[in-house]
Amino acid sequence: MYEIAARYCATRADIVRQIHTALDRLGQPDFLSELQGQLLAAVADEYRADLILDLGTGPGNSAAVFSIARPDAAVHTFDLEEGWPEAQRKLAITPDNVIAHVGDLTATDFTPIVGRSGAVVLFWDAHGFDVAAHVLGHIMPLIADRRHIVICHDMSHVHFLPEIDYGGKPFWRGLSHYGSWPGATAMTVLGWTATNVDQIIPILDFCARNQIEFSSFDADIHLTRSKAEIDALGNQLGILPLPAVHMGYFTMEAAGPRRFPAARHP
Ligand SMILES: C[S@@+](CC[C@H](N)C(=O)[O-])C[C@H]1O[C@@H](n2cnc3c(N)ncnc32)[C@H](O)[C@@H]1O
Repeated sequence: MYEIAARYCATRADIVRQIHTALDRLGQPDFLSELQGQLLAAVADEYRADLILDLGTGPGNSAAVFSIARPDAAVHTFDLEEGWPEAQRKLAITPDNVIAHVGDLTATDFTPIVGRSGAVVLFWDAHGFDVAAHVLGHIMPLIADRRHIVICHDMSHVHFLPEIDYGGKPFWRGLSHYGSWPGATAMTVLGWTATNVDQIIPILDFCARNQIEFSSFDADIHLTRSKAEIDALGNQLGILPLPAVHMGYFTMEAAGPRRFPAARHP
């Protein structure tokens, strides 16, 4: 990921600036940090994505980022609630390449949306087991044999967990028991991930069965690069010091097995 981010900074300075401005106008950094937004753009650019699946519109940060980074791609954003029109107002844009779907994405047939696309970036920022069932059981079979990457929000590296101790709290037993930040239970620590979102379990299960890695942006950038390299990236992005990313990713591109769970549980 470091090389992808560095290439993006070196070749897309105009997009870096536009994304900075757009996220500033939306004013919701708690939903997506500027670093996360710039890295989403870097990956979409690197993949030459022609289809973006943005799961979880929320206040529209990720949809705006993808729209700017890949103006010729189809950006499909999904939410239970209508968030994109308000984002459009703040961004002062009208015609754009974002198609906003309002409703339960787990009831959506992605077959016509994926269509004949060649390179897909899926950003997974809607939480829970039902969404996981739909992503892993329905969407993944549609995109597994195309160029694709799945980027998962809310996946911290344990190295950046503020407190490795339980802090006197019970162990994690799902997002619904966790409550709101800082949480009624501890986060769960599984492998390198520290998170509170339910989909971590089916994601790790899926990756293990398909013999693929669930990888960490923070391991790629913060834990394997020198301070000089990290500062250089921060300088190019105008984000100093460079904070932790808190995102993970996986792809089936190099995978042998094709093992998918059923989309709907009984
Ligand atoms: C964290 S927010 C997304 C933030 C957004 N990516 C951004 O960058 O601003 C997660 C969103 O997922 C939506 N969501 C959760 N479950 C969903 C479902 N089954 N179908 C559609 N949207 C869902 C929620 O309504 C919520 O707005």
